[in-house]
Amino acid sequence: MGHYPEPRAGAIYTLQFLQRKYGHLHNEALREASALCGLSITQLEELVSFYPLLLRRPVGRRVLRICDSIACHMAGAPALLDEAVRLSGVPLGQPSADGAVTVLPHVCLGLCDLAPAALLDEAAHGPLDAAALAALVAPENT
Ligand code: FES
Repeated sequence: MGHYPEPRAGAIYTLQFLQRKYGHLHNEALREASALCGLSITQLEELVSFYPLLLRRPVGRRVLRICDSIACHMAGAPALLDEAVRLSGVPLGQPSADGAVTVLPHVCLGLCDLAPAALLDEAAHGPLDAAALAALVAPENT
């Protein structure tokens, strides 16, 4: 934390680390972050609610974020999100029945040239169609 000019800057990296460790930021993870950063749980909740890459709820072993911002929306993101729900068998945001993957809608990923685009964990994919989406969420990839 001494490398950062203020605790909130270091808190982002602390929260990312704890999310990698636990899969999501449960209450105990926030208490751990609070002790490490010297910020209150409320301050950490504010950070988590602002950054969509930080997750408070349990997710599958892998997370597929499908962009639903304007460029991707125009290129077919709504149909991809519908197909993702069909393939996973659960609503967006919930882990699939086997716990392999969670599909989330996401604001612009900065991959507009790949629209419709997605991130599977930290890997960029696009342009996606139904077949490419099916391959991404196939058991051998999740
Ligand atoms: Fe989808 Fe930018 S609008 S990546």
